[in-house]
Amino acid sequence: MKLIIFLILLICNIIKSQQYGPTWAQINSRPLPGWYDEVKFGIFIHFGIYSVPAFANDGYAEWYWYTLNNPSSDGGATQRYHEKEFGANFTYQDFVSQFNCRFFDSDEWASIIEKSGAKYVVLTSKHHEGYTLWKSEQSWNWNSVETGPGIDIVGELTKSVKNMGLHMGLYHSLFEWYNPLYVADAETGKNPKTQVYVDEILMKQLKDIVTTYEPELIWADGDWMQLSKYWKSTEFLSWLYSNSSVKDTVIVNDRWGSECRDKNGGYYTGSDNFNPYKIQSHKWENCATIGYSYGYDEFEKATDYQNVSELLVDFVTTISCGGNFLLDIGPDAQGTIPNNMVDRLLQIGSWLSINSESVYGSSPWRVQNETFNIWYTTNTTNGNVYAFVFELPDNGILKLSDPIGNHKTKATLLGLKSENGVTVSLPLESNKHGITLHVPLVAPQDYPPYVYVFKLTNVK
Ligand SMILES: *[C@@H]1O[C@H](CO)[C@@H](O)[C@H](O)[C@H]1NC(C)=O
Ligand SMILES: *[C@@H]1O[C@H](CO)[C@@H](O)[C@H](O)[C@H]1NC(C)=O
Ligand SMILES: *[C@@H]1O[C@H](CO)[C@@H](O)[C@H](O)[C@H]1NC(C)=O
Ligand SMILES: *[C@@H]1O[C@H](CO)[C@@H](O)[C@H](O)[C@H]1NC(C)=O
Ligand SMILES: *[C@@H]1O[C@H](CO)[C@@H](O)[C@H](O)[C@H]1NC(C)=O
Repeated sequence: MKLIIFLILLICNIIKSQQYGPTWAQINSRPLPGWYDEVKFGIFIHFGIYSVPAFANDGYAEWYWYTLNNPSSDGGATQRYHEKEFGANFTYQDFVSQFNCRFFDSDEWASIIEKSGAKYVVLTSKHHEGYTLWKSEQSWNWNSVETGPGIDIVGELTKSVKNMGLHMGLYHSLFEWYNPLYVADAETGKNPKTQVYVDEILMKQLKDIVTTYEPELIWADGDWMQLSKYWKSTEFLSWLYSNSSVKDTVIVNDRWGSECRDKNGGYYTGSDNFNPYKIQSHKWENCATIGYSYGYDEFEKATDYQNVSELLVDFVTTISCGGNFLLDIGPDAQGTIPNNMVDRLLQIGSWLSINSESVYGSSPWRVQNETFNIWYTTNTTNGNVYAFVFELPDNGILKLSDPIGNHKTKATLLGLKSENGVTVSLPLESNKHGITLHVPLVAPQDYPPYVYVFKLTNVK
């Protein structure tokens, strides 16, 4: 008996102290924490000094400082705009006084995000500009507590997001364009002889955000600048997975070195706005923008923004193929989430409130789509299949050729309002060539909005 207890304790101890050594083979062997695949939908937030000029030439406003200094990268548009609006002697750092965040209310942000149906948040703790949204000792003169608004933005938002029951994640740029320590390391090109920046800045900041804020997701970026050996990525991830307080729940992406994307780390991200429209063999994420830019660009027009139907098409095609959808918003320098972004989030939230069972916890089905307008997910526990239909046929006769039905097959349209409030099964014919559904021609206000989700039971 004593021996058995001893053995159980020993096994528990081994499980508890699971160590992942600093090699990609060991890092990649760690199973992804289950919460991430279940939640499907997150909100990305790009917020920093670039939110002040809020300008890009149909590109990334968060790259303002770089495009200002490298006019060839955008045909000089940023430089011309800057000189006209602020004068040639106005430096990028001067914008910090206008990064006032006077309307910033982290509870309000978290509440809007919660209403969108998103289950996780990823905030830029530091973008390539190096400005940190927390009081970083390694960035003592260039952070949001000691300069600018005087607010621990990472801390306040982390608290509000966790209070809402959502998962909090932090984006962190591995490099900084103009950090003198990085510039000195990188002087020798892609094979730096020194790692002063990594030892003195990067490692300390990454460990600081993990121990101080306990994020459940780290979204690394700037990977392409150097090999992961330079960034000491496996050393950091070994510590994160083995020794940090979030080791059991934390998940990371794949941007940990120029050789890592779609290969090493946690889930894969591909390129920005990545959507392959094909099932992938490894968990992946589509980090999507509503317009062109991640950071706020006040010059994007209403017509530059995708509407809710377009966003839901991107969302549905992503989850059908096993991805998560991380939709980006860019608050302005006052700390306000622009109204048109809030609108999109609330519209997605109202759609999700009707169709949640087809999304959260779902899995890709054996077929992802049968045309561009019909996509699928399934609940692997009860075998229900969900068909996402972007356009209903005018005559109400909807043919699905992939699901194989039998005499027990039933179909409902999620959110279809009936006269007495009872969910109605739709009349259908089913044979080995698929299922034909007869969708009632009711008044438009009785249809659920944007994307129609049919729930099929007893199909193969
Ligand atoms: C910019 O600074 C330089 C050097 O201090 C000065 O000569 C120049 O007049 C300034 N330009 C403007 C537009 O203020
Ligand atoms: C993790 O903690 C163990 C035990 O304290 C230690 O031996 C190991 O070196 C640590 N690993 C890392 C990557 O910090
Ligand atoms: C979104 O735009 C498309 C055209 O690009 C249009 O067909 C669709 O009806 C629009 N959806 C909404 C909800 O406005
Ligand atoms: C999947 O089916 C199981 C069994 O019926 C059910 O308990 C679970 O809630 C379903 N999942 C979702 C996300 O609805
Ligand atoms: C599924 O959608 C993709 C992306 O539009 C398309 O290329 C493919 O042909 C579709 N599959 C079928 C079977 O229609």
